[in-house]
Amino acid sequence: MFRGIKFVLVITLITVGETAEDRAALPSFNESTPQNVTLYQGETARLLCHVYNLQNKKVTWQKKGQHYPLTVSTFSFLSDRSIRIEHDEDSEWNLIIEKVQRNDTGIYQCKVATKTALLVREVHLTVKGEICLILLDL
Ligand SMILES: *[C@@H]1O[C@H](CO)[C@@H](O)[C@H](O)[C@H]1NC(C)=O
Ligand SMILES: *[C@@H]1O[C@H](CO)[C@@H](O)[C@H](O)[C@H]1NC(C)=O
Ligand SMILES: *[C@@H]1O[C@H](CO)[C@@H](O)[C@H](O)[C@H]1NC(C)=O
Repeated sequence: MFRGIKFVLVITLITVGETAEDRAALPSFNESTPQNVTLYQGETARLLCHVYNLQNKKVTWQKKGQHYPLTVSTFSFLSDRSIRIEHDEDSEWNLIIEKVQRNDTGIYQCKVATKTALLVREVHLTVKGEICLILLDL
């Protein structure tokens, strides 16, 4: 399940501060948010992840197959891309990717690490070729 030792270290660092009472109730996801998102190149992706009972834990987003998270809480590790977290309400930790490209296609994992469990909710993103190419032919 872990993609690399470096990610394990990141998770370890962000779970420091957990207390005994946090273990009483685990965080949980809204299981109704879409897990299959299909867009055209250039559109904005909005991948939903609603977490309840988060307490002092952090939500991280990671693209499956990559060693590093894209975001931790509302912090984005990608300075060259318009990737950000939409955190309007307490439970919402939506991943926004501006101007998606075909190589953004993949499985995005919304993760919450506790001392005893790594909770993961996956969203499949498919990016198709540009719709404008069809319109230009007219
Ligand atoms: C869970 O997500 C669905 C889909 O986005 C939404 O309609 C629903 O209101 C959410 N449930 C709660 C309890 O927030
Ligand atoms: C997800 O979307 C793809 C199209 O990109 C489709 O082929 C597939 O059937 C969908 N899967 C589900 C579970 O809806
Ligand atoms: C993804 O595609 C875009 C545009 O085609 C390109 O600029 C970028 O370098 C690609 N990224 C990767 C990781 O291949």
